[in-house]
Amino acid sequence: MKITKICCIGAGYVGGPTMAVIAKNNPHIKITIVDINAERIAAWNDADVSKLPVYEPGLAEIVKETRNKNLFFSTDINTAIDESEMIFISVNTPTKTFGKGKGMAADLKYVELCARNIADIATTDKIVVEKSTLPVRTAQAIKSILENTGNGVTFDILSNPEFLAEGTAIEDLLHPDRILIGGESEEAIDSLASIYGSWVPQENILRTNVWSSELSKLTANAFLAQRISSINAISELCEHTEANVNEVAKAIGMDSRIGSKFLKASVGFGGSCFQKDILNLVYIARSYGLNEVANYWEQVIIMNDHQKRRFSDRLIKTLYNTVSGKKIGLLGWAFKKDTNDTRESAAIYVTDHLVSEQAHIAVYDPKVSAVKIQTDLNYLNTRTEAENLKYVASVENPYEALKNAHAVAIMTEWDEFKTYDWKQIYTDMKKPAFIFDGRNILDKSNMEAIGFEYYSIGQ
Ligand code: NAD
Ligand code: UDX
Repeated sequence: MKITKICCIGAGYVGGPTMAVIAKNNPHIKITIVDINAERIAAWNDADVSKLPVYEPGLAEIVKETRNKNLFFSTDINTAIDESEMIFISVNTPTKTFGKGKGMAADLKYVELCARNIADIATTDKIVVEKSTLPVRTAQAIKSILENTGNGVTFDILSNPEFLAEGTAIEDLLHPDRILIGGESEEAIDSLASIYGSWVPQENILRTNVWSSELSKLTANAFLAQRISSINAISELCEHTEANVNEVAKAIGMDSRIGSKFLKASVGFGGSCFQKDILNLVYIARSYGLNEVANYWEQVIIMNDHQKRRFSDRLIKTLYNTVSGKKIGLLGWAFKKDTNDTRESAAIYVTDHLVSEQAHIAVYDPKVSAVKIQTDLNYLNTRTEAENLKYVASVENPYEALKNAHAVAIMTEWDEFKTYDWKQIYTDMKKPAFIFDGRNILDKSNMEAIGFEYYSIGQ
């Protein structure tokens, strides 16, 4: 099938950047990204590209280049479905918060709604592409919904999971390690492969059966997260043995069988994917009665929760076992640098714990708004909104966050944190002045030379 029009349902962190890059490389294809969230679509259409709902280095430039030429953002979902030959489903698949599988399984209601929407509207044959991360065998459910419409339309379902990481999404999309396409119909796979083929070499486009493709996405995230939990487990041992986790990571990473990436010890991984996808993997394994498999992967999450908790425990213990009434300056709220996304950020959990101990937190993050910070805390339901507002303030200037603070906690590895005037910060803080560097971004000996008591992860 020659593709001239694409619809992408879901204008989020994946749909937006992915379609922008496809549009840039396929100027002859009209791409419409649709969403039920009108506010989000309006932000994508904002003439001021600094107001796009997703912050990613390089994204605004591509949107500027393609928007209203061959890339469109709209709330008119039905028209976009009707006119397109290919439809990407790129909606959120969060962990279920209710019913069977609560706290573990992926909530597929948004995906199912998309399938039903497509089934209702489609009058011509379509290729439906699963771009969202889905449990293995979801394509079966989508197929069943689509095929029971009885309107004679043929649907081909492909699994095409996305491997971009936030903060480097554009770079990852422009130079992907691989594109994975799972499906039955060679013709449909060829159609999708030719779209990627406009900038990705064909040998990097991997074709598998649909189930391998779905499971590969969960497995990739589980393996990546497992490396972080592994090095974080070693970081705790380092703190008791005077080994240095950075040195250990470098030493093991030089073994080409291990490799050097994803070995940065940290306050714990965050983001919308790792925890959700591993919990989902654990749930699927358990549902097949594979308890050893489930327990094995669950340990990655248990270790990550432990790492976040022990960071705040250590801070409290070091501040003479109490943070009550003390000011803690928090640098960074996003789950990693170069994104405005805060989902599952370690900063949320560390703050929640410190506020439960009555600490006063002043947060500075270059890309996260005060409203978002309060929303994240309120979502935990630990205390009232008024109490969160009382204990947690967001400030626009990092020096203000740290002025008169008893301690600094670095939650995100934003580059700008390294270049602050740390001598000035030391002068302005209460003494002794403590730094808890959850990202190991500052130099221990420099900080100690200034006068700080410096604590980091695994050294
Ligand atoms: P997101 O929450 O940023 O965006 C999803 C969008 O879908 C929202 O704007 C929502 O309003 C919209 N939506 C939901 N139901 C809809 C419907 N029925 N019709 C129209 N719009 C609807 O989510 P995201 O981060 O872009 O993730 C999307 C999927 O991609 C998830 O399955 C996720 O696991 C996967 N994924 C995410 C990343 C990442 O880095 N964020 C990377 C790879 C894969
Ligand atoms: C991840 C996967 O990398 C990506 O392939 C998938 O498509 C979506 O999930 P993302 O969550 O956006 O991407 O970012 P990633 O770079 O993987 O970081 C996830 C978390 O792990 C962040 O909190 C990051 O700070 C942390 N991390 C990462 C570490 O603590 N140490 C590391 O060595 C690497």
